[in-house]
Amino acid sequence: MRRELASAAKDMAVYIKALDENLAESPWRGAPLKSAASASAPSPYPAAVPAGPADTSMTKQPPADMDTLAEKVGKCRKCGLGHARLNAVFGVGSYKSKVVFVGEGPGFQEDHKGEPFVGRSGQLLDKILETVLGLKRSEVYIANIVKCHPMKNPETPEAHGNDRPPTPEEISACRPYLDEQLRAIKPLCIVTLGSVATKVLLGIDKGISLVRGRSYDYPVELFGPGHPIKVIPTYHPAALLRNPNLKRDTWEDMKLLKSFLENGKID
Ligand code: URA
Repeated sequence: MRRELASAAKDMAVYIKALDENLAESPWRGAPLKSAASASAPSPYPAAVPAGPADTSMTKQPPADMDTLAEKVGKCRKCGLGHARLNAVFGVGSYKSKVVFVGEGPGFQEDHKGEPFVGRSGQLLDKILETVLGLKRSEVYIANIVKCHPMKNPETPEAHGNDRPPTPEEISACRPYLDEQLRAIKPLCIVTLGSVATKVLLGIDKGISLVRGRSYDYPVELFGPGHPIKVIPTYHPAALLRNPNLKRDTWEDMKLLKSFLENGKID
């Protein structure tokens, strides 16, 4: 027992050192996280889509594969974000992954590259995946709630500091795409990164610090009865860049995920 504790402490020290190399002062890319005190305010986001699709036209004729869906997203103009973005940011990683990581929406770097989590938050996410789970980004699947960069000023996609959180309308317009991605991948587990993804996917209105540390059942039966999906909420990597003290909690959340992936259950 003592040896196990010592080994866990050593693992955590390695993780913290690895993350420390990535941590430095960095402005939060969007709005500040809601504090626990405001957690009971009505949710600004649309409720989780009830069992069944939000956009029936998409599932009557499901896309033959993810490439078709990616093409559809690339041409999407369902909301204003589609007109302003440089690149749609569909998702990246393995379609066979048992876990899908879901962030809020692309930022400047992602808009330029067309890939989620490629900026500083993304580098930190890669480190977390590697040090706690022993996984590369290509071995999991990573996507966002909205696929296009929400900008304060859509006229200036080249400007830095132009990020903002997606609006409820933008989230509603984009949500069917994420559902289609999840249907195609059929993950056992979704990790929500930060308050926005957590509120949207769980349909609850509580700050991330109040909901993390345990798992939830995904409220939508995407694959029908008997195929539950677990949701593990954790902090957005950008929150760790702002507040390195959060990396310990993130470690605990990732350990929960690791144990679920290895044992198929969460205690
Ligand atoms: N933050 C997000 O929520 N998603 C990204 O893809 C990048 C930063």
